Amino acid sequence: MPAHIIDGKTFAASVRGKVAKHVSQLREIHMTKPGLAVVLVGEDPASQVYVRSKGKQTVEVGMKSIEHKLDASTSEKVLLALIEKLNTDTEIHGILVQLPLPKHLDEDMIINSIDPAKDVDGFHISNVGLLGTGQKSMVPCTPLGCLMMLRDYHGSLSGMDAVVIGRSNIVGKPMAQLLLGDSCTVTLAHSRTKNLPEVIQRADIVVAAVGRPQMVIGDWIKPGATVIDVGINRIEKAGGGTRLVGDADFASCSSVAGAITPVPGGVGPMTIACLLANTVTACYRINGLEEPGEFTA
Ligand code: GUN
Repeated sequence: MPAHIIDGKTFAASVRGKVAKHVSQLREIHMTKPGLAVVLVGEDPASQVYVRSKGKQTVEVGMKSIEHKLDASTSEKVLLALIEKLNTDTEIHGILVQLPLPKHLDEDMIINSIDPAKDVDGFHISNVGLLGTGQKSMVPCTPLGCLMMLRDYHGSLSGMDAVVIGRSNIVGKPMAQLLLGDSCTVTLAHSRTKNLPEVIQRADIVVAAVGRPQMVIGDWIKPGATVIDVGINRIEKAGGGTRLVGDADFASCSSVAGAITPVPGGVGPMTIACLLANTVTACYRINGLEEPGEFTA
């Protein structure tokens, strides 16, 4: 039987709908409008597309959106001064500095200068530490989106074997922490893992976030497993042109898996939806209000 397709586009629309309701409540009952500031340094074309999309969706759910587009040659001092200004701006509840930054800027230092309460990416060292110790934190958007989809499909994840492929700070490592928090038995695999097919064969849940087009194939998957594909890779089409594919080979995996996220239309749309959800969560917390449980790990 072919796998159930987990529709991230529809799921993300439902998350945005819930976010919009919370934004209305915050505005009407609590007289506060959540605000998100996005900082883009340089002109990386992919980053420009993301930033435009974030700005549009932020406005659509009723939040304040501001964008700071800085020249690629911007100094660390100027960028730090901007972040400090946003840290103290009472109309801003979320700050996102688009990565990657130009090489002359110290990415870790810049991220750690953001007020952790406004760190809607969940990349600040204090949020990383809070997540790692199971405390309330801001959670990185892509893994949070994956977790929401897994919980929605399975209900409880308790006791399931999960293999995360990829050890990035943005996806792999926080994903492993989140699955552990939901009582999965977690293996964090990566490009140097020995016998990767055998490791994956054990998994009830496979999260592919390794950045290699169509690497995970159906033969490696346990029948009935759930495959969450975080990869977004552009490859050449046989007849010319290009197309987007994930880190899993959709054709072979979907004939073995129980459920799978497609690329495009799976994890991708969830990332921005979770960014909006994190901004709402930050707004509740900063104002000392009880936050909705539905968006948090
Ligand atoms: N670049 C690629 N993904 C991300 C993300 O989730 N957050 C930020 N800040 N930059 C990114």
